[in-house]
Amino acid sequence: MYPYLKGKNILLGVTSGIAIYKAVDLISKMRQIECNPKVIMTKNAQRWISDQIFSAVGNCEVYYETFDVKTGWIPHTELSRWAELFIVAPATANIIAKISHGIADDLLSCTALAYSKTSKIIVPTMNVRMYENPINKKNLEVLKQNGWSIIEPEEGHLADGEIGKGRYPDNSEILEYSEYLLSKKDFMNKKVLVTAGPTVERIDPVRFLSNRSSGRMGYELAREFANRGADVTLISGPTDLKPPSIVKKIIRIESAKELREKVLEHFEDSDIIVMTAAVSDVRIKNYSEQKLKKDTIVNLEIEKNPDIIKELGRKKRDGQILVGFAAETENLKENAIKKLKEKKIDMIVLNDVSREDIGFEKEENEVTIFTSKEELRLEKNHKRIIANNICDFIFSTFF
Ligand code: CTP
Repeated sequence: MYPYLKGKNILLGVTSGIAIYKAVDLISKMRQIECNPKVIMTKNAQRWISDQIFSAVGNCEVYYETFDVKTGWIPHTELSRWAELFIVAPATANIIAKISHGIADDLLSCTALAYSKTSKIIVPTMNVRMYENPINKKNLEVLKQNGWSIIEPEEGHLADGEIGKGRYPDNSEILEYSEYLLSKKDFMNKKVLVTAGPTVERIDPVRFLSNRSSGRMGYELAREFANRGADVTLISGPTDLKPPSIVKKIIRIESAKELREKVLEHFEDSDIIVMTAAVSDVRIKNYSEQKLKKDTIVNLEIEKNPDIIKELGRKKRDGQILVGFAAETENLKENAIKKLKEKKIDMIVLNDVSREDIGFEKEENEVTIFTSKEELRLEKNHKRIIANNICDFIFSTFF
């Protein structure tokens, strides 16, 4: 799900890297997310894959002729005007050299020269020695200086049997970065701290106390703030989720104690603090180095964990926005408002965790936002959309 790309005019330039088959998956994904793609292929790219594959998979037009001028329609100027985002993937060393030097000798390089917007991405993929060649590196630097975003290739096995940097990255990384380029930047210059996922309180080397939080809501919020220009730090409990690639500062924690330490380290410096983490309310008093036997485990002693957000509520300075999440199964509104007041937070997002169709481990959520003055219900939707709506609410209410 990529809401910022839906309905957008995206021009995909395809060159003759071996990874060209991965660009077919990219065009397929573009179709699935309902954007509006068009493709330019170089002549050499067509030696690997037929233009009809791109046309069929993407349900879109594919161009390659510079001189296919129709009355009033010159391909490179029309396409460069039409596109809201321009991606060259895979990009060979040759197209990188041409674009960085202003050479315009085929439709793709002509279009690149004519494209004057800043939403443009290059995905270099090639043999590691070609990639590391200082000439190629210098050309990439020139592209960066000219507003191109470079998505670095991955390291690993290359098509020629060598190992090194040069592999085509995951298409989700290209699409996530595309979203970043196309989203509004209303949180620019804001520092945002997001906590996500469960905490884990170890009992002995094999057992622990935790909860069902997947971290999804927090990860989506971190992504949304980052998309909208914020400087985001994500503190995450253990989860299988892949962090959004545009969130660069990620701190891993396990227990509530570690979470508290890291939160306090970053609190002063943050403008907005969003505590989506499902903090374990209790921990084991004495961690056992040895595996406990079944007769002793029933005598486990537990103690309360510190209430981190409550501590932040006391320390908060003017202008800092503190957002909590309430996980409830009964007396939903009453409990959420109680937490809002008692923890001295600015806004609380209520989740009904008794419902199996939303919340824990699910891709969708339905929440109600409370502040001291307002109440807003967000109907069931993908957590990415809920995160977008929560950010809209924070912006319109507090800024
Ligand atoms: N929270 C926290 N520290 C804790 C417990 C919770 O900072 N030790 C934060 C959560 O990150 C969340 C908010 O407090 O933003 C509410 O969490 P929730 O689990 O709903 O409530 P609790 O305060 O733990 O109360 P209870 O479990 O009794 O409902």
